[in-house]
Amino acid sequence: MRQIFLTALMMSLLPIAAQGDSAPPPVDQRALTQMIKDGEAVAAFLEAFEAGDKLTEFSFGADQGVGAYIGEGRRFTRFPRADLKGPMEWASHFPKREGGANATSCVACHNAPFANGAGDIALNVVVDPAHSGDPSQYLERNTLPLFALGIPQRLAEEITTDLYLQRDAARQAACSNGKSSAKLSSKGVDYGTLILTRTRQEPCTIEIDSAGLKGIDSDLVIKPFGWKGNHSTIRAFTRGAAHNELGLQAVELVGDQDGDFDGVTDELTVGDMTALTTYMAALERPVSKMELADLNLIELSAQESSAILAGEQLFADAGCASCHTPSMPLQDTVFREPSVVAGFFDVAFPDGSDPQSHGFTQTNGMAFDLNGDQPNNVITLQDGAAYHLGALEMDGDGQPTARWFTDFKRHDMGPELADPSDPLGLGASKFLTRSLAGVGATGPWLHDGRATSLKDAIISHGGDAKDSAVAFKALQPLEQGKLVSFLESLTMFQNPKDN
Ligand code: HEC
Ligand code: HEC
Repeated sequence: MRQIFLTALMMSLLPIAAQGDSAPPPVDQRALTQMIKDGEAVAAFLEAFEAGDKLTEFSFGADQGVGAYIGEGRRFTRFPRADLKGPMEWASHFPKREGGANATSCVACHNAPFANGAGDIALNVVVDPAHSGDPSQYLERNTLPLFALGIPQRLAEEITTDLYLQRDAARQAACSNGKSSAKLSSKGVDYGTLILTRTRQEPCTIEIDSAGLKGIDSDLVIKPFGWKGNHSTIRAFTRGAAHNELGLQAVELVGDQDGDFDGVTDELTVGDMTALTTYMAALERPVSKMELADLNLIELSAQESSAILAGEQLFADAGCASCHTPSMPLQDTVFREPSVVAGFFDVAFPDGSDPQSHGFTQTNGMAFDLNGDQPNNVITLQDGAAYHLGALEMDGDGQPTARWFTDFKRHDMGPELADPSDPLGLGASKFLTRSLAGVGATGPWLHDGRATSLKDAIISHGGDAKDSAVAFKALQPLEQGKLVSFLESLTMFQNPKDN
């Protein structure tokens, strides 16, 4: 057991960003790129991280373009207003609004159990992507946590790369043999089958039947973000969040236009988006109570530890691990922004501009190692050594491993859990296997926050997960409790020093 100086952890409490603080200065992408070019990549990373921290905490004002011209004299709305169709009103904003604007800061919603976390029901987002104007069709979404988002993005990049290689090999085979099939898998997860048929010999042309894919799109790009699992990158998701939730439109989204007619343009720079992305990618990772007890950061009785261990076994026995894959190895632990994997970087920004024209380049991109560069959660042990609780864990062979508890696939969760409408065409009852990293600290649970306990969340599983919910229900109450203790042991830790 390691001993730590608890005094270091009892230091000052979180200074809440005060209203009236001056707005964070726009981050200059060219300056960041120049620093990296000049060999100051670490300084550029820390500067972006700090700037991202301020951008997520700051409560923006109308001068900075927060909110939108909704109509009826409003700047914000908690529910979609497709009925407001007048010139410049809600329904005529571009890009097409899904909801909001409904807040002045990111941490207004992402705040539980502390800044950058999940959110209560009161912070649910209501969206109407199809502009139905019909409340019975609206989608309700519970706030997701933002910790260590570099981990799911890097895992998704590596899985996608594997799948591309398997497809390419099958393409070669189909060119020589006329027909081939590819069984796609990566990191121990089965992603289904592609069937390739040669339709022309010279030059070889192939037709791909992707009906046999499981839980992923035909572009083979794994999309780890959003409850629906329909966004591949932190950056793309964040552009949408800034626009829909805060009414802050990034330059890379709308160019020099004022798409929400609030009289302000250039609301977030390319550098701001890089800072926000870097920040969320490099936030500390979720931890387990077992780890915290091992570091003497919390007390755990022998009874509690044995319940957690028994619960982990029951989790596997009940079939939970067949979707919530407990861990995956990560080969290359360096997160890059922009990414260098096709499908994870913008060839062109949504406004049509070339990222390079903003000084945003792959050759001099932001890079940091998920294996220890995260600035937060560096704990001082009693012997004075630094222990990096923010970094990835290692498996028995010293291979960096992410305990993310998802297979990165969408599954049919049955009619009970289904959305009332399917505006994106992904299937109303299909959801991404939600990561259980930190799940003990992110309630309420499920996509609309309907589950007020972990037990409720489990029992609500239907569709492809029905058997495992049945297996859970068949357990004795004591055993159910152990499984829940295991989930509760997956939690978040914040070193008070980092605030
Ligand atoms: C009004 C509440 C609210 C505000 C404000 C808000 N978010 Fe969110 N955030 C959500 C909800 C709800 C989701 C889940 C949305 C979904 O899956 O459709 C989410 C999801 C995310 C995700 C995806 C996480 C994942 O693992 O899939 C990111 C990234 C994110 N938000 C970043 C931000 C940033 C950055 C800001 C500020 C610019 C912000 N959010 C402001 C409510 C909010
Ligand atoms: C067929 C795949 C599948 C199986 C099997 C499965 N889950 Fe899930 N799980 C999901 C999906 C998909 C979601 C997201 C549901 C949603 O978006 O509302 C989820 C959500 C959850 C959540 C809520 C997470 C959150 O942040 O809100 C918990 C807790 C959970 N599962 C635990 C379990 C346990 C325990 C078992 C075994 C008894 C299990 N799951 C079996 C696919 C599965």
